[in-house]
Amino acid sequence: MTVRHLLRDDDLTAAEQAAILERAARIKAHPFSDRTLVGPEVVAVLFDKQTLRTQVSFSAAIAHLGGFPMIVDGKLANIGVRESIADVARVLGREAVAIVWRTHGQERIEEMAAYAEVPVVNALTDDFHPCQILADLMTIREHKGELAGLTFAYVGDGGNNMAHSYLLGGALAGLHVRIGTPAAYQPKPEILARAQQLAAEQGGSITLTDDPIAAVTGADVVATDTWVSMGQEEELSTRKGSGSPFTKYAVTTELMAHADADAIFLHCLPAYRGFEVDADVIDGPQSVVWDESENRLHAQKAVLSWLVEQHRDLGR
Ligand code: NVA
Repeated sequence: MTVRHLLRDDDLTAAEQAAILERAARIKAHPFSDRTLVGPEVVAVLFDKQTLRTQVSFSAAIAHLGGFPMIVDGKLANIGVRESIADVARVLGREAVAIVWRTHGQERIEEMAAYAEVPVVNALTDDFHPCQILADLMTIREHKGELAGLTFAYVGDGGNNMAHSYLLGGALAGLHVRIGTPAAYQPKPEILARAQQLAAEQGGSITLTDDPIAAVTGADVVATDTWVSMGQEEELSTRKGSGSPFTKYAVTTELMAHADADAIFLHCLPAYRGFEVDADVIDGPQSVVWDESENRLHAQKAVLSWLVEQHRDLGR
């Protein structure tokens, strides 16, 4: 057996995703019951991009599990420039029982995983944000009960990491995933195809539309994300300026009114009120974004301890 990683949402099977969500719920109820990293074992946590939630939630998660978070400034380390990703992986793999990395291209984290010999966790790349989706699924489960069969609508940038991870992670959970996005901001075709395959296996579905009202009508969950992801700053005026292609995908109270009356609202944060979401929605009664943010901690404790356990089972 090879070392397991979480580089993209479909690195987990549907059963493994369900088990991790169950484990996260148990951990949330008994925060210091899981001491997988006692020693303290070290987890390396690297950032090539900005962070708040990810740094604090992984730091707290690793500490709660009895471990030590070794935070590395990726810009200072200049990973892949000062030395190869493979060499960084070999070094970190000797110090840490797991590596958590926020970086740019997906190929970078794949290279890290290929050489590290310890589990590697994607803490956001340009293509995926699987830890966030675990937290989101946990939040939906808390508010709605079972996941399978629920209708989940994401409106905004259909080609970003959150859209891709909702497609794969949502399909694995058996959700009916709807993406409302302009024609020019579609998900990557191979990710869409993979999501359609997973949805067919799990009894869910995938719908892609450029009509935001069609996307959210009757939905149990409505989600959005920034229109300008990290690394897209040079496109700021096109994406956010007057005439933005995303304007009609903003989650306003009017758009939210098309969802189910009991629908909940999710946003991975940071949020830009007045752009992708109105203050009345994100600060209103349907918003569960603070639960969602807290659940990063519990979900990441669950996935880290699960991955480290799997690795120990290999006898390493
Ligand atoms: N799509 C956003 C998510 C931030 C958590 C970004 O990549 O910046």
